[in-house]
Order: sequence, then structure tokens, then C-alpha cells
Amino acid sequence: MSGFTEKQEALVNSSWEAFKGNLSQHSVTFFNAVLEKEPEAKNMFSFLGNGVDPSNPKLAEHAEKLFGLVRDSAIQLKTKGEVVAEAKLGSIHAEKKVTDAQFAVVKEAVLKTIKEAVGDKWDEELNSAWEIAYDAMAAAIKKAMA
Ligand code: HEM
Repeated sequence: MSGFTEKQEALVNSSWEAFKGNLSQHSVTFFNAVLEKEPEAKNMFSFLGNGVDPSNPKLAEHAEKLFGLVRDSAIQLKTKGEVVAEAKLGSIHAEKKVTDAQFAVVKEAVLKTIKEAVGDKWDEELNSAWEIAYDAMAAAIKKAMA
């Protein structure tokens, strides 16, 4: 993954700022998109017991960490050309028995949420930069799960 460009990193960074600009709304969009495609996730996340409750601060807390790690992945790709995930992230996801299909669902939910966050600044190039960064972080977590 040595081809991640400065422009791609900048696209991820600026849309990360847009995402954080309205974190609570975007977190609700994100978790709704996950549950729509994967209702089982309701039983996996400790804070989704009552479904997507916009008044629950855990939603935003968790979404900020997850999207923040994808942004961190973009930075790692640009600076080192590879992405490493902490061992703890591997064990959390191994314990929750997260599947490849679920990683794909979360990816679509991330991309949909970023599209909402950036509005008319969205284009294929921005989408593709997020895809590459997400795929690299997902691969690093899967490696740490093994
Ligand atoms: C690149 C993709 C992903 C990233 C960056 C990521 C990130 C994280 C982080 C940082 C935590 C720990 C949160 C904390 O310490 O409070 C976590 C926990 C968790 N993740 Fe992921 N995750 C990813 C994909 C997934 C997928 C695909 C699933 C499956 C639906 C999933 C399910 C969970 C669950 C169930 C927890 C425990 C949450 C709780 O109940 O507190 N994650 N994830």
C-alpha cells in the first residue's frame, strides 16, 4: 500500500473534520446503517440494547473512535505505507466473533456516513480514499485477531 497519496490523506483528514463537526447526527446515521444490514449487531454492541438511541453518548464515543482509527489508517498509509492495529483491537473483535461479512457491512456504513458528512464535497476520489484506508485498517485488525 505504498501508493497512498498526500491528496488522499488530505481528503480523509478534511472529511474526518466534517464528520466530527456533527458527530452525534453522523453517529446515528452510522449505527442505523449498520443495523439495517446486520440486525445481529444490536446484540454485539453493549450500548445498542435499546437500538439506536440518539441521546446515548456511547454512540458518538464509539463512532469517533472507529472513524478516528480509519483516519489514523490513512496517516499510517501515507507515512509508512502499511497499517498496524493494536493487539487489543484484535482481541476485542476476536472475542465478539466479528466476521468478514460484518467488516463489509461496517465499511458500507462508514462510506455512507462520510457521504452525508461532506455533502456536495463528495466525489469518487474521496470515497476511494476512505475505502482504501478502511480496508487497510480492517485487514490490520483481522491480522491482530488471528
Ligand atoms: C476497521 C473497522 C473497525 C474499527 C476501526 C473498529 C474499532 C473498534 C474500537 C476502537 C473498539 C473499542 C472501543 C472502546 O474501547 O470503547 C471496538 C469495539 C467493538 N467493535 Fe469494532 N471496529 C471495526 C469493525 C468492527 C466490525 C465490523 C464489527 C462488527 C459488527 C465491530 C464490532 C465491535 C464490537 C461489538 C465492539 C465492542 C463494543 C462494546 O460493546 O463496547 N467492529 N471497535
